[in-house]
Amino acid sequence: MNLKGRHFLTLKDFSAEEIMYLVDLAAELKRKKKEGIPVDVLRGKNIALIFEKTSTRTRCSFEVAAHDLGMGTTYLNPQASQIGKKESIADTARVLGSMFEGIEYRGFGQEIVEELAKYAGVPIWNGLTNEYHPTQMLADLLTIREVFGEHKGLKLCYMGDARYNTGNSLMILCSKMGMHFAVGAPEKYFPNDELVAQCREWAKESGGSVSLCTDPKEAAKDADVVYTDVWVSMGEPDEIWAERIEDLTPYRVTSELMTCAKDKAIFLHCLPAFHDLGTETGRIIHEKFDLDEMEVTDEVFKSSQSEVFREAENRMHTIKAVMAATLGAF
Ligand code: CP
Ligand code: NVA
Repeated sequence: MNLKGRHFLTLKDFSAEEIMYLVDLAAELKRKKKEGIPVDVLRGKNIALIFEKTSTRTRCSFEVAAHDLGMGTTYLNPQASQIGKKESIADTARVLGSMFEGIEYRGFGQEIVEELAKYAGVPIWNGLTNEYHPTQMLADLLTIREVFGEHKGLKLCYMGDARYNTGNSLMILCSKMGMHFAVGAPEKYFPNDELVAQCREWAKESGGSVSLCTDPKEAAKDADVVYTDVWVSMGEPDEIWAERIEDLTPYRVTSELMTCAKDKAIFLHCLPAFHDLGTETGRIIHEKFDLDEMEVTDEVFKSSQSEVFREAENRMHTIKAVMAATLGAF
């Protein structure tokens, strides 16, 4: 398998074998990290990290993974760079591509990472756009494989806004990898028809399936993995909280909902999660709407079924694999 020079913009561009290769490489890099075996094979290289939206896991994963691989990092936030305001994406790509061996971008439209990829001349890694969150998917698959030993044939149920980055990407992942993807959401939160049709084609080949249900219990029935994400994503206006709360509260992941899934089912969430009043946003919502928890209850979040922190750690190992493979280290 040779992924040298490839961009990592969306899993749509990767075959099941390539995805598995990256997850296997991540597992190997994770083992080496735990055993203290150095992997600084990319010494002397440098990468740029562009974040137009906030981040804890993705930024830290890129930074730690880069340092473990021996690379230097430069972090650019929207206030500290000219990107998009005083310099076009194409010009930025040409400039950064002349100084760095790879560039991570987190921000808004998918067309921005595509534009960077067109002009940079070095691998571009999508650290989250409105449409896709591909590095998250590798961490999720690694987590599922660690817990179940195998991913093929498992059912993953996604509750909530399934038309955004995480929902779209999970549907692509499952349909390519032979998993059964079930959305539990009101119809207006279903992924777009074109993507659903494309994923159903992939699922036909892989032995997976895609189902869209408005009944949360039906979606969660016999699931191996129950997954949710925030109801309002970064970049969306605060005004939509009221509508989202009304629409998505029936799809909250509760202990009762978890009983519809298999006994050994796990709970996953890309994080950050609103499961208590430990956040500023959580407290504002509490004041306004009298809610203590949102997309997942505190009980499920802290239950033995919850694998969210293993999932978060796996972000680092999988991002390391993406950089190592696309920069030609392995
Ligand atoms: N899951 C995820 O992407 O987390 P951050 O927003 O903290 O990077
Ligand atoms: N859908 C969320 C994912 C965060 C990792 C967002 O875009 O804010």
